[in-house]
Amino acid sequence: MRYLGEEREGDVVVITIEREDKLNAMNLEVMDEFVGVLEKLRSDSSKAVIITGSGRRAFSAGADIEYMSRIGPAEAERYALRGHEVLNRIEGLEKPVIAAVNGYALGGGCELALACDIRFASANAQLGQPEVTLGICPGWGGTQRLLRIVGPARAKDLIFSGRRIGAEEAASMGLVNRIFPQDGLLGEARAYAQAVAKNSSFAVGISKNLVNKGMDANIDTGLKMEIYSWALCFATKEREERMAAFLGKK
Ligand code: COA
Repeated sequence: MRYLGEEREGDVVVITIEREDKLNAMNLEVMDEFVGVLEKLRSDSSKAVIITGSGRRAFSAGADIEYMSRIGPAEAERYALRGHEVLNRIEGLEKPVIAAVNGYALGGGCELALACDIRFASANAQLGQPEVTLGICPGWGGTQRLLRIVGPARAKDLIFSGRRIGAEEAASMGLVNRIFPQDGLLGEARAYAQAVAKNSSFAVGISKNLVNKGMDANIDTGLKMEIYSWALCFATKEREERMAAFLGKK
């Protein structure tokens, strides 16, 4: 792969966007590579995924502005569809995906982080949806996922103004879960991912699905989905073993 690094350590896979000279902006090739990697992750034995950007400046400065400057609506639609495919695949992956936001996460970069389950940020991170400054609206799920994560008033503020916010402000609105010094960010993300990977991956995956689907379901439907998913856990050998191990310790 030209633009994505993939490194596996135990149960955890780290995907790094490697286009540092362009602040990890995501052109079509980056998105195509993402589709391939995510397809593999769907069925491999890894238990948690971290996405980060190469270098010390950016997680990703978003969709490729040079490319966007020379396309029309039909190609823009294809680019948006590719973006949505990648982000939907991340959201639909039945394992936790952690964004290690190591600098700028702007436009599509912020949207990429929003599709992840957990966002850890370095203290120097800056997040934002600056699309309107370029004459476009967010196009890779920003209007919908930001809305669901921070609520409509904050989402509109960020999208209408296009302003960049620092890690502290992002944390205060629930946009990032935790903040770390830049040098410690990836290590903390790995430690967290490894800790999560020790839990039942079936149970973690089904929980991810319930939270994601529950966001758009009414409460009765969400609670019913939970009952059936919970019951399904009782069909697994792992549940038997984990409960027996707990009782055996006593
Ligand atoms: N698409 C394509 N190239 C991008 C890019 C993007 N989204 N963001 C940055 N780059 C490129 C720059 O063109 C520059 O390339 P060059 O060295 O070949 O000229 C390189 O990355 C470094 O960026 P530069 O703008 O020179 O760095 P800076 O420190 O002055 O500013 C940012 C950093 C992040 C504030 C600025 O790059 C920026 O605003 N980027 C666009 C962010 C954005 O609007 N994203 C949403 C797109 S919808």
